[in-house]
Amino acid sequence: MNKIIVANQKAYLTREGVQSFLNEFAGGEVIFCPSFPFLCLFNNHILGGQDIAASSELSATGEVTADQLKSLNCTYAIIGHSERRKFQKEDNEITNQKLLTTLNAGMTPILCVGETHEEYDLGLTRGVVKMQLDASLANANGEVIIAYEPVWAIGSGLTPTNEEIDDVVNFIKELYPSYKVLYGGSVKASNIAKLNEIHSVDGYLIGGASSKADELNEIVKSCQ
Ligand code: PGA
Repeated sequence: MNKIIVANQKAYLTREGVQSFLNEFAGGEVIFCPSFPFLCLFNNHILGGQDIAASSELSATGEVTADQLKSLNCTYAIIGHSERRKFQKEDNEITNQKLLTTLNAGMTPILCVGETHEEYDLGLTRGVVKMQLDASLANANGEVIIAYEPVWAIGSGLTPTNEEIDDVVNFIKELYPSYKVLYGGSVKASNIAKLNEIHSVDGYLIGGASSKADELNEIVKSCQ
């Protein structure tokens, strides 16, 4: 089994935390997406931005552009994470712009989609996911990785059943057959063996557990 593993370390670690994480990380093929200031500490690893500026405007306080990410050896960028959609009010239009910017820069976008708990309860998952995908992928040409991340599963310790994940991942693959599809939302060392039973899933986008070296070591061991 060789699953794609994306480590979205969010804002969990300080510089010291990153250094001890790296001392304890046992190795393996992981796409690391640390906080921007710490990208430089991840020598000889595959790297991605947790976000990317929508345009290449240079007079843009606080933004990190595609050129800057590329100069730090990033080959991936996470786009449309639900925390950006929620806290930065990013909509599908911005997500589409960021996705096209990433592709134009020759990098691979990791596009996050997923339903809220309310939408899940109402049985709207497929419709929400399709709408997010179609809007975010408009005019896209090139390699894209899609991460199916139910918003209610992120950081909550909850996950859909394997059957539910398999159903949505297959649905996405029917819509966009050439893209790899990851699952994200409370992936941990304790549930990775069960999740690995879902053959349609090409890998995982891991948040909280990816900044703890012992957790990530276990996950890498089960997946590679
Ligand atoms: P989690 O986050 O693994 O902490 O649930 C996943 C994500 O937000 O990508």
